Amino acid sequence: MTASSTPSHRRLLRTLAGEPLSPPPIWLMRQAGRYLPEYRALRAQAGSFLDLCYDPALAAEVTLQPIRRYGFDAAILFSDILVVPDALGQPVSFLEGEGPRLDPIRTPADLCRLQAGATRPKFARVFETVARLRQDLPRETTLIGFCGAPWTVATYMVAGRGSPDQAAARLWAYGDAATFQALVDLLCDVSIEYLSGQVSAGADVIQIFDSWAGNLPEDAFARWVVAPTKRIRSALKQRHPAVPVIGFPRGAGAQTTNYLSVTGVDGVSCDTTTPLALMAELSASASVQGNLDPLLLVVGGPPLERRTREILTALDGRRFIFNLGHGIVPETPPEHVGALVDLVRGYRAT
Ligand code: CP3
Repeated sequence: MTASSTPSHRRLLRTLAGEPLSPPPIWLMRQAGRYLPEYRALRAQAGSFLDLCYDPALAAEVTLQPIRRYGFDAAILFSDILVVPDALGQPVSFLEGEGPRLDPIRTPADLCRLQAGATRPKFARVFETVARLRQDLPRETTLIGFCGAPWTVATYMVAGRGSPDQAAARLWAYGDAATFQALVDLLCDVSIEYLSGQVSAGADVIQIFDSWAGNLPEDAFARWVVAPTKRIRSALKQRHPAVPVIGFPRGAGAQTTNYLSVTGVDGVSCDTTTPLALMAELSASASVQGNLDPLLLVVGGPPLERRTREILTALDGRRFIFNLGHGIVPETPPEHVGALVDLVRGYRAT
């Protein structure tokens, strides 16, 4: 498919192709998940969280749950950014209420044990989920595939868990940049294959999650966040020129402008702290996505309505995709999500 034949019935694709829509398309990060009772019921049957990610029938079902409830403009493949280290041979487990655990990579020898060639069987299951979804989704729903950006995935691989300051990865990156580069290069190579497989299976758009991009000085940000994202985007464009890429450099703040111009992503997802004026400015060179505080969706009512209108008004007439600044939290009442969708869909610029 070429850009000129972008299906006009997929509103998210139209915006990413440069067309401002009013009201804007809407989807929400982590729209499938624990805030939904139907997710919790299915999750209880599935065994471990990664078993769910690798089961194409169940993963497709979980992806569809929020589409049935709310009719979002896009579905995001149900999976996790840590499927990549798991498939590379660094097993990942999720402890109830505590998040992911991995055996940390500490030495070049640990790095050598990771095998790009080992990813195929697990990736194949994810690709099958994508193929099922393209069949089962309404034709107007855009299907988003994704991966974690190399920097963010590396922070988990090196620390063996989530960390508030990403200290283990920063120490390695500053102290021995050459071996850290080898890890990032491996993640770039594998992510390119992973995303390309998702697109071949039917994903319309790719989002690259760099959730921990916000803790690096300028030179390290350029090397570990911008350069790998640029490489992945370029390789993907060579293979699939019509498929838009959205980057999510969470916490990048004043470095977002540079991220956007150097990586060449088609869309940038902005976190909650990004000023709406900066989002408006960025929308001159790409689509912008965001940035409602997920905790306003927990609160609901007038505070949610007020801020939603502010965002819609500030970005009306621009290339804008309504979303949160980060993922939905499990405490979110599902009816608040419905109210948000109604509010966005009912919005008319005055
Ligand atoms: O609906 C969607 O957005 C698609 C599915 C999706 C999940 N994780 C499902 C998930 C996506 C796109 C992700 C991305 C992801 N995973 C990121 C980047 C975005 C972000 O939130 O910053 C990161 C950093 C991860 C790693 C991860 N996965 C953590 C830290 C955790 C534990 C914290 C938590 O929320 O439980 C997960 C688990 C996870 N990923 C769950 C879901 C629905 C909850 C697991 C469960 O059901 O027990």
